[in-house]
Amino acid sequence: SSTKPPGPFQPTKEDYQKVYNDVAELLDSNDEYDDGSYGPVLVRLGWHASGTYDKETKTGGSNGATMRFAPESDHGANAGLRTARDVLEKVKDKHPWISYSDLWTLAAVAAIQEMGGPKIPWRPGRNDRDVAACTPDGRLPDATKEQKHLRDIFYRMGFNDQEIVALSGAHALGRCHTDRSGFEGPWTFSPTVFTNDFYKLLIEEKWSWKKWNGPKQFEDVSSKSLMMLPTDMALIKDKVFRKHVEAYAKDNELFFRDFADVFAKLLELGVPFKQEEKFVFKATTD
Ligand code: HEM
Repeated sequence: SSTKPPGPFQPTKEDYQKVYNDVAELLDSNDEYDDGSYGPVLVRLGWHASGTYDKETKTGGSNGATMRFAPESDHGANAGLRTARDVLEKVKDKHPWISYSDLWTLAAVAAIQEMGGPKIPWRPGRNDRDVAACTPDGRLPDATKEQKHLRDIFYRMGFNDQEIVALSGAHALGRCHTDRSGFEGPWTFSPTVFTNDFYKLLIEEKWSWKKWNGPKQFEDVSSKSLMMLPTDMALIKDKVFRKHVEAYAKDNELFFRDFADVFAKLLELGVPFKQEEKFVFKATTD
C-alpha cells in the first residue's frame, strides 16, 4: 500500500551510466595535469586496487577499496594514486550510493573507453571493507625486476603468460613520475590514447639504458623521449612473452579483444558478485 516506506535505493544500469558520464566529464577537466587527462592515473588506480589479489588465500582484489587506508595507501607502489582517489570524490558526493570499490573500477573502465579503448563489460557488487582488510606490502609488481618476477606476481592473481602481455599494453597510457615511482617519462607519443603502440614501439625501436642518476630504465635511441621499464623489456627478452608482443603489435583488434577480456577479469578478482549480468557502457563518443 502507499504507506509502505521506500526500500533502499536500487540502482539500475542507467544510474551506473550516469556515474560513467560524470567520470568521463572530469577526465579532461584540468589542462595543467600531466598530458591533460586524469584517464591514465584512473586506470592505474583500478589496476592497483585489483592487483593485490591472491588466489590461494582469496584475499585482496578490488572488493573493499582498502587503499583508502594506511598502510595500503602508503605502499610504495601506490605513490601518486591519492590524486586519482581525490578526483573521484566529486563523483562519490553526487552518487553517494555507490561503493568506492565499484566507483574505482567503473572509473577505470570509463577512462579506457573514453581514451579510445575497447568496451569493458562491468558489473556492480563490490562492498567497501575496513582497514583490517588491507593487504600486506609487496603484492604489486616491482618494475626493476624481470620475467620470473612478473610470472610470480601475475600467476598469484590467476593470470597466464598471454594475459600478462595483454595487460601490459596499458602502458600505452600515461607516464612515470620521478616523485611517484622514481622513473621518468611516457611509453608512447600519445599517452592519452589507448592503442597497441606499446607493443609496436617495444619491437620497432632500439632501446638503450638511460644515462641518469635515477633508477635503471630504458630510452629509445632515436628520440630519447620515450621510456621502458625493466619489466616492460622483459616482455621481449622472454621467448613466450615475445610471441604475444608480436601478435599484438601486428593486430590492434586482437589486442583490444584480449585486453577487454583480461581487464574485466582483473577488476573482478575475488569479488563475491550476486549479479550475473554485465553492463556495457555507452562512450560519450558513441
Ligand atoms: C604507470 C609499473 C602493469 C597501468 C606505472 C608506473 C610504474 C608501473 C613504475 C609509473 C608510476 C608513476 O611514476 O606515476 C608497472 C609494472 C607492471 C605494471 C612493474 C607489471 C607488469 C600495469 C598494468 C596496468 C598498468 C597491468 C593496467 C592494466 C599503468 C598506467 C600507468 C602506469 C595507466 C600510468 C599512470 C599515470 O600516468 O599516472 N606502472 N605497471 N600497469 N601503469 Fe603500470
